[in-house]
Amino acid sequence: MCGITGYKGKRNASEIVIKGLKKLEYRGYDSWGIAIKTDNHLNVIKRIGKIGDVSSKELKLKKSSFGIAHTRWATTGKVTQENAHPHLSMDNKIAVVHNGIIENYQELKKFLTKQGFKFRSETDTEVIPQFIQYFMDKGNSFNDAVINTIKKLEGRFAIVAINKDYDTMIGARRGSPLVLGVGKDEFFLASDIPAFLEYTKDVIFLDDNEIVFINSKTEIRNFQTNKKVEKKTEKIDWDAKEAEKGSFPHFMLKEILEQKESIARAVNQDLDEIKRIAKLINDAFGVFIVGCGTAGKVCHTATYLFSRIADKHVNFSFSSEFPNYQHFLTDKTLMIAVSQSGETADTLEAIEAAKKKGVKVLSIVNVYGSSMTRISDYNIYVKSGPEKCVASTKVTTGQLAILTMLAYACAGKLEEGTKLIKQTITDINKTINDSYLKKIKSLAEKIRDNESMYIIGRGLNYPIALESAIKLQEVSYIHAEGFAGGELKHGPLALIDNKTPCIALVANDETKADILSNAEEVKSRAGLIIGVAPENNPAFDYWLEVPDSGNCSPIVNIIPVQLLAYYLSTLKGIDPDYPKNLAKCVSVK
Ligand code: F6R
Repeated sequence: MCGITGYKGKRNASEIVIKGLKKLEYRGYDSWGIAIKTDNHLNVIKRIGKIGDVSSKELKLKKSSFGIAHTRWATTGKVTQENAHPHLSMDNKIAVVHNGIIENYQELKKFLTKQGFKFRSETDTEVIPQFIQYFMDKGNSFNDAVINTIKKLEGRFAIVAINKDYDTMIGARRGSPLVLGVGKDEFFLASDIPAFLEYTKDVIFLDDNEIVFINSKTEIRNFQTNKKVEKKTEKIDWDAKEAEKGSFPHFMLKEILEQKESIARAVNQDLDEIKRIAKLINDAFGVFIVGCGTAGKVCHTATYLFSRIADKHVNFSFSSEFPNYQHFLTDKTLMIAVSQSGETADTLEAIEAAKKKGVKVLSIVNVYGSSMTRISDYNIYVKSGPEKCVASTKVTTGQLAILTMLAYACAGKLEEGTKLIKQTITDINKTINDSYLKKIKSLAEKIRDNESMYIIGRGLNYPIALESAIKLQEVSYIHAEGFAGGELKHGPLALIDNKTPCIALVANDETKADILSNAEEVKSRAGLIIGVAPENNPAFDYWLEVPDSGNCSPIVNIIPVQLLAYYLSTLKGIDPDYPKNLAKCVSVK
């Protein structure tokens, strides 16, 4: 949800920030812009659309050691060149890029308008450079004007600000991510590490209410208390290549195929720590599991895993709905928050609401150092490496594997669980090969023109039917809906006709006979049945084979649907990595 970046150092800033933007494009790609400071002048370029293949040469920008950039996912204000960042102060001296939402911007804008400030955009962001100018006109230094401005802001933000007359680049955050990259005589600011990973692996994660002043050195302060903060530089153990597409046509395909290794990394955890966390779950008086979108479907699946493996009741709520359950929380409740980015605003707010009631929070997160990991009591990292495609794939199965492992640990059967997951990984490796991909692609060719698709599942595979619908919707734009197999006859069967493919997710468990008869019910109403199952069945028109993986059936069943969604997307000429209207990291409510 918007990517910001900034550079100050000996290299050519425009090249660095443009490259950085390309790495952050997954966070939003409606429009982009940069501001480069040269000879006491700010060169600003803004464009609608993706930054794509633009190079700094084409933009004819002068060499500079100092610049900021932004890639936008529109929140306040339409997708127009005027609304693209950076935004400038009225005197054009100050440029700001921002990620987040300024909730009180209308009130601030009204005040500034009364003071004679003219606005050029519809955005909430523009109040920031204007207020900085307001304070500077009153005699503040640039540093003080930025501090005084951000103290006025309500909501979540990460900003980077520069001033044509100053040699300082300033970054600050509250509620949205901002990471400082530390090189030799050079500094980087970005929403996420891949923006500068090829230049440095030394990073400082800024925490909420922190502001960094970057000159030839950096100084970090708490902008509320104005106290200096000493921060640890951490070494990031990532390979820059992991964040590249390499020879793959899309990140989505690369990331789906990486699952062969990423699931293994997810369960490669300190087993004593997993046992300690399982004890926390067992001892808690009430456990809530929260997440949004795909992470929410993972949480929903976990309720079945804990129930069937550990006889444990875990309450699921979408993060955005969680505040409605506050009345049930005590200081003995445990919250499990599941997220790829660790920055989703709804989940952060759910955690904040829980913490106010003394609830302990365990986060299962992929992005190292993200906001959620900084406010949680316990963290388990999914270790999938960077996931760039907007649609989550490898992190989904990593999270499912970790939750399966935790459920087994709660039942005192961790060894049995890890053995099952390891076997599942081996079986997935055997199943996914070129002919499997060809088969799914040819199925996609057959159904690409269908307007609707339905997915049914039972038990563990009911939430996976819902997740399958999300995958198909977001990258193929086909109207897809998931149902519990048993619910079909209570309404949705009326939608079935001979143009409606229906995917039946089958597990070799006690739900098998019932889901197969649900598939028959659809077939007898002329629907086309795609069975995702360990065994073929006369009910299926197409069979996508998956390993027989017991309680790991959610992991193996989602993979062919991810591939089907991918091929439908590319056959329809859609870029699956950047679906319309979506962004990878949803840092607004
Ligand atoms: C869909 C998808 C989204 C995210 C959701 C939560 O493929 O990726 O539905 O799952 O926006 O994001 P995280 O996991 O970053 O909290």
